[in-house]
Amino acid sequence: MATPTYSRVTTKSLQEMKTNSEKISMLTAYDFTFAGLVDASGIDIILVGDSASNVMAGHETTLPITLDQMIYHASSVVRAANRALVVVDLPFGTYQSDSKEALRSAIRIMKESGAHAVKLEGGAQVKESIERIIQAGIPVMGHLGLTPQSIYKFGTYTVRAKEDQEAQQLLKDTKMLEKLGCFGVVLEKIPAALAQQATQSVRIPIIGIGAGGAVDGQVLVLHDMLGMNKEFSPRFLRRYADLDKVIIKAITQYTQDVKSQDFPNEKEQY
Ligand code: KIV
Repeated sequence: MATPTYSRVTTKSLQEMKTNSEKISMLTAYDFTFAGLVDASGIDIILVGDSASNVMAGHETTLPITLDQMIYHASSVVRAANRALVVVDLPFGTYQSDSKEALRSAIRIMKESGAHAVKLEGGAQVKESIERIIQAGIPVMGHLGLTPQSIYKFGTYTVRAKEDQEAQQLLKDTKMLEKLGCFGVVLEKIPAALAQQATQSVRIPIIGIGAGGAVDGQVLVLHDMLGMNKEFSPRFLRRYADLDKVIIKAITQYTQDVKSQDFPNEKEQY
């Protein structure tokens, strides 16, 4: 059977991709201009990640970003995304305390940004929140393994679930997320063999970041894969460009041209 092409990727398309063994591509975006470029490149999912807290705002962790700020980023991305499914992170503190608050937060994202789905971190401990959001008709993506909103509990960004107990819990949580009705799960920074086991144990798509190649798709942070942030260099990151060099070269040249009065020339004025 020929692989279907999608004019708009939906949660159903993602399920078909897994069934057809077609890998799923996912990248973050946080603004209109980049989201337009990402969408035009044929990406399947755009994640408005709470990594906006690091990448856009310069915070050390994802914890400070607010729901209003996530909605601002998400609505900018939605306006540019013609094909990709747009998934938005529920930020820290908007879904952990009780499931009604979680639903209110998810509804605000869907209503005010026009996004297609939400993502939240955690397994059994956020079960009720996931249940309530899905019951309201909002698609939910899970996120297990290294969950950056819990960085102060972990104390480090090193690989998770290397020990058997945490690995077994991750497998259990993956199955639980499928049973609750999540349309997919992100597995971050865990051993490749464990990610493979998790992927084979469920029918929903598993998207990996630092989780090896035996998952159903891959996600990276856009600015990292474009080489705009050279301080962040984990083993799992492949850089597809050195945009930092391109941008610095262009801006250095511009500054020189302004100083030397080469810019603007006669053709560049009225
Ligand atoms: O916020 C984010 O960018 C993420 C990805 C790393 C999966 O959650």
